[in-house]
This record gives sequence, C-alpha cells and structure tokens, in this order.
Amino acid sequence: MNDTLTLAEQIDLQIRTGGPISVATYMGLCLTHPSKGYYRAGDPIGGAGDFITAPEISQMFGELIGFWLVNLWQQMGEPKAFTLLELGPGRGTLMADILRVACRAPGFRDALHLNLFETSPNLMAEQKARLEVYDPKWLQNFDNFEDGPVLIVANEFFDALPIRQFVRKETGWHERQVGLVDGKRTFGLSPTPIPPAAMPDPVANAEPDTIFEVNFAAAEILSRLGKTIAKQGGSILAIDYGHARTQTGETLQGVRRHAYAAVLDAPGDTDLSAHVDFDALANVARQAGLAAQPLATQGQFLTRLGIGERAAALSGANPDAAAEIRAAHDRLVGQDQMGSLFKVFCAHSPGLSPAGFAP
Ligand SMILES: C[S@@+](CC[C@H](N)C(=O)[O-])C[C@H]1O[C@@H](n2cnc3c(N)ncnc32)[C@H](O)[C@@H]1O
Repeated sequence: MNDTLTLAEQIDLQIRTGGPISVATYMGLCLTHPSKGYYRAGDPIGGAGDFITAPEISQMFGELIGFWLVNLWQQMGEPKAFTLLELGPGRGTLMADILRVACRAPGFRDALHLNLFETSPNLMAEQKARLEVYDPKWLQNFDNFEDGPVLIVANEFFDALPIRQFVRKETGWHERQVGLVDGKRTFGLSPTPIPPAAMPDPVANAEPDTIFEVNFAAAEILSRLGKTIAKQGGSILAIDYGHARTQTGETLQGVRRHAYAAVLDAPGDTDLSAHVDFDALANVARQAGLAAQPLATQGQFLTRLGIGERAAALSGANPDAAAEIRAAHDRLVGQDQMGSLFKVFCAHSPGLSPAGFAP
C-alpha cells in the first residue's frame, strides 16, 4: 500500500478495492498499522496525550503490585530464576514502580528475567529509558521463555486488542463491518449469517439487533501464555475495564484528548478500545490448565493489598503532598471513579494463593 497516503485514505482505498472490512480488521489497522497506527505513530498516554492510566496516576498502584509479586515469588519457594513479563508496558512507569519495591526482597533482583511485549516504538524508547537497569528483553512472540516460573502483568492491554462484533438478525448473527456509503465510512453487516448455535449460550437467543463482541486476540494470547504458566508455574494478573459475565451490548469506544470520539472518524488519531469479557478469559485460562480467582474490582483489590495504609505512610513522609496522595487514592479506588469500573483478573498455576481476592 502507498505509504504517502494517510491511514484514513489507505483504509478507504482498501475498502473500495476489496469490499467492506470487519470491525476487527478496522480496529487492528487503526491501532497497529506499521507506520500510521495509533500506537505506532504517537505517544498517547498522560496529560498531553489522550488518556491516563492507573500507574500514571500514582506510584501506589505499581508498588502494591510489586509487593503482590514478591509474595507470589515467595509462595513458589523463591525460585533462583523466573520471568516477569509485562504486556503493553506503556511508558514503563508501572514496571519501574513494581521493581523499585520488589527488588528490595533479597534474591528477587538476581532471579529476575524481565520481558516486555510492546508494539509502539515510542513507548519502547520510554521503557528502555526507565527500565534499562533491569536489562529487559522485548519479545516479538511468546514462543520462548527461560526456564522457571512466569509471572505476567497487564494493565489496560487486553482492552486495546481488536474485537469482532456480531449483530443478531432474523437470519442469524452477521459480522459487523466497516464499508463506504457515498464515500463516508459506515457500519454495515456481512451478508453471510452465522447460525445462533455457534454463539455461546448466554447470547444465542438474543433479541434482534443485539450486538455481541468477541475478543479472539485476547483469547489467543491468554491461551498461549496460560499453557506456558501451566507448564512452568506462575500467574497472570490483568487489570482492565470490563464485565464479569459474558453479555451483549456494544462497548467499542473512541477516545481523543481525554474525551469520547467517533470510532470511524479519525483512524490512527483516536484510541479505540472495548470492554474485556472476563468470563471468557477465565474459561480460556481454565482450559489451559490454570486456576482462576474470582474477579475483584480494582477498588477491592487495592484496598485488600493496603492502599489506605500506603497512602497514609506516603502522606506522613511528605505532608505537603497529602492532598494530592488522597486524591490519587480516591481516584484509584473510588466507586464512582476507577474503583468499580476496572476489574482485576488473576489466573495461576494450581497451589498458589494470590493476595487481594475474595477467599
Ligand atoms: C492503554 S495502554 C496501557 C499502558 C500501560 N500498561 C499503562 O497502564 O500505562 C496499552 C499498551 O499496550 C500496548 N499495545 C497495544 N496493542 C498492542 C499489541 N497488539 N501488541 C503489543 N502491545 C500493544 C500499547 O502500545 C500500550 O503500551
């Protein structure tokens, strides 16, 4: 494809020559097109970007996950070598906060192999600057891990993977597509129906015009990593917005400059994401041989790990910052803020008891 064209022009040309594309293809091009995708071309995170994430709000988020990881490493008998992998590490802030506290545990630093999985060259450069001292390795795929357990962390990674959408009609479920009508990008439907029996039980008999979203990319990655964890021991912790039970309804959304934006309007300049179906992820994890903890809200998880005490300790050490620390605490755990919208998912090899989940 001619790379002098904008991403919007390239997508429109692809539709004009090859016909409508699935929502997943559209989302994949918008986010990770090699030179013009949202995550390939810009630096979206933070006040000057499009959105802010939990580790960018406060160091407490990463520090508590650091203590959480040390606890799991100790439960596994303090293995002399293990892999710590972060999926979509953003600016490297979360991992820097994790390792600042975790490496205080004797033996943790020496045993650590740090792996990162990232698509954005700009963010990779930021990760390198913050994490170089830990000698990270950037993975291209999940084919080869060092011997020893694998601990995986992912904050707002699975919601950034392309989803497929299906719409219920009299004839069955039809995949939602992006086409052109009078030269304007428009949603439409594939003419070929998928029989209702092909859909999972909770949605098979949905009302006409119901939308159902499936994140095959998330399932594929979790299945691959889950099998490795089942074989070598370890866990995956994923924090994202999403729902606890498989459900219908559209959650695909666009965000630009901290405000909602139309999904089809500015390909490559708008962040696209969709809620994660944690029920589906738990099923994939179990099929891979892992145990899945009952889902916790971010508020429950951080509170159980002691964010209140951590905020008090940080405020005691720096009284001038007390109001700021209190505001960050409330933003991370508040019911009306990130506390209930974001959920914490953990799947792990049998025999481990990760902290922060309901007994
Ligand atoms: C919403 S950001 C979250 C960043 C970071 N975890 C945080 O909490 O600040 C999504 C991250 O996943 C990365 N990412 C998105 N799609 C990806 C893909 N297909 N493969 C690898 N990394 C991807 C992005 O570049 C970014 O680092």
